[in-house]
Amino acid sequence: AASLPASVEALSLQSTAQKSQFANCFPTLNPMDIYRQHIAEELAKAADIDAQKIYPRIAWTSTLDKGDLSLPVASLQIKQKNPVELAKELASKFPASDLIHPPTPLGPHIQFFCKPKPLTDNVLGRILKEKSAYGTNGNQGQKDPFDPSKGQKKIIIEFSSPNIAKPFHAGHLRSTIIGGFLANIYTVMGWDVIKMNYLGDWGKQYGLLANGFKYFGNEEALVKDPINHLFDVYVKVNRQVSEQEGPIKELKEQIKAKKEKSEDVAELETELAKLVDVSEDEKARRYFKSMEDGDPEALALWRKFRDLSIEKYKQTYARLNIDFDVYSGESQIKSESMTDAYKLMEQAGVSEKSEGAVIVDFTKHGAKKLGKAIIVRKDGTPLYLTRDIGAITERDNEYHFDKMIYVVAAQQDLHLAQLFKVTELMGHKDLASRCQHINFGMVRGMSTRKGTVKFLDDILRDVGDKMHEVMKKNEVKYSQVEDPEKTADILGITSVMVQDMTGKRVNGYDFNLDAMTSFEGDTGPYLQYAHARLCSMARKSELDVNELVNANFDLLTEQHAVDLVRLLAQWPDVLLQTAKTLEPITVLSYLFKMTHMLSSSYDVLKVIGSEPDVKQARMALYASARQVLHNGMRVLGLSPVERM
Ligand code: ARG
Repeated sequence: AASLPASVEALSLQSTAQKSQFANCFPTLNPMDIYRQHIAEELAKAADIDAQKIYPRIAWTSTLDKGDLSLPVASLQIKQKNPVELAKELASKFPASDLIHPPTPLGPHIQFFCKPKPLTDNVLGRILKEKSAYGTNGNQGQKDPFDPSKGQKKIIIEFSSPNIAKPFHAGHLRSTIIGGFLANIYTVMGWDVIKMNYLGDWGKQYGLLANGFKYFGNEEALVKDPINHLFDVYVKVNRQVSEQEGPIKELKEQIKAKKEKSEDVAELETELAKLVDVSEDEKARRYFKSMEDGDPEALALWRKFRDLSIEKYKQTYARLNIDFDVYSGESQIKSESMTDAYKLMEQAGVSEKSEGAVIVDFTKHGAKKLGKAIIVRKDGTPLYLTRDIGAITERDNEYHFDKMIYVVAAQQDLHLAQLFKVTELMGHKDLASRCQHINFGMVRGMSTRKGTVKFLDDILRDVGDKMHEVMKKNEVKYSQVEDPEKTADILGITSVMVQDMTGKRVNGYDFNLDAMTSFEGDTGPYLQYAHARLCSMARKSELDVNELVNANFDLLTEQHAVDLVRLLAQWPDVLLQTAKTLEPITVLSYLFKMTHMLSSSYDVLKVIGSEPDVKQARMALYASARQVLHNGMRVLGLSPVERM
């Protein structure tokens, strides 16, 4: 599993594109582009329309019964023609073709169906040769698709971003899954992707944690399990804080009452000052102040917590096939970046003083919905938003990115909108326009069997255990799995991820352990099962996989086989579409469509027991399906299993 992220990168290595007369047309990468090109050229000749106008309008179809490609004729903007009539007219003018059947007009559309033989030869031939590269399009991420020397476009994807010593909650889980997926999509589209984790690793709570560690900490426990141990310490010291809050509050009330009666409060005030002075909250404030002032000892302890936590996070991320290029965080933002930002805001007349603090009142700058935001507190300290403002400019200066995506829960919609608006108001309009917030809804009820969840590892362990139980039920198969624990772990992770990627990102969902680990319905285990079954079929066929490309594809005449090929032909278009929607469901629903088609094909297109040449041709088809399923699963961040 450790080598997985690297091999996703290998997916984007492309043979050089052949130049076409059409923009965004890559016949060497995408079989459907051959057809688009053919249709545009033939229709242009036959009906005397500019081929350049036709080409970009030829769309892929969401279901195969609508054709392999379709042209909404209204989009050609031919005046004074009724689209329904025009569709009929153009379809009838289309000349006989070796590649496609005579087109069918349907309402204002023309549907094009590929002739099976050339499509099958092309698609299966490609998949069996290109393997994991099939469907990827490295040219999309090049500054100039036909001149690699111009370099790749660069994108920063900031995701996961948990807070040290606090629970890794469902929001972080979703950000991790979606962010990992986005990184894969941009990678296979040929972008230079920087995966960044922006840790919550700074603030008064680290003062609290450091002091807490002196009372409750244990070196050994820290090294062994830093994330859980630091969380324990944090909970304990927070308990002290709340215990101390009571008496302090009481004294404050007494003082208030006495003051109202104009009684002397000097004595009580001294008492209060003493209480506050020795309180954990105040100690934490002082400790954090020393961190801000660069006290080496304070920083060393904080760095140790941070480093150990990152080490641990890395192991967990590896289970999800994710490795970050940069562990940044709130602590890493230079104070100069923030002061520079204040200056710019002041010069631009964006910020203003309000009760000792510096604020931005968005309502005065054409953004009513964004309300007001504090930029600098009364005591001069920066906030979450302030650090993000510093971070956005630092990243721009350091990486010169073409695009940056923040994968953060919808609860922070306002925060990100304020960040982008401030950036714009500060005079960095171009920078703001290169940034995008990819948000997502909430997961409800994420808990382990033992109770509410604290950390990702707890969840993954639980789902893994559950899958292990399921696997044990089939003794024969179970005995053939090489490392059942590992497989159960992968299946568990797949369950969680597939559940998360089912449905659009903005929708929340209920965390449901039973549903996600079931083999019924469109679940992770079902997807893995479909892949494992194709692997098993290949093993049992005892055919040489390297010879499959030489099979006689003419024997694949059944409708099931033809439709499967047509679906496989769509994969490059599905990836292109996904690069637009940035929704995992675009890939996932395609993969489930394929698994459904496969399971209805097994009885019709038998491998075992068929004539040798038929057997080889069908196996070539199934091996191609397995390859595309594999490619799709990898883009989603899953590890396809060969046995389960
Ligand atoms: N650590 C934050 C949290 O847990 C998420 C950070 C999101 N990214 C950002 N640049 N603000 O809420």
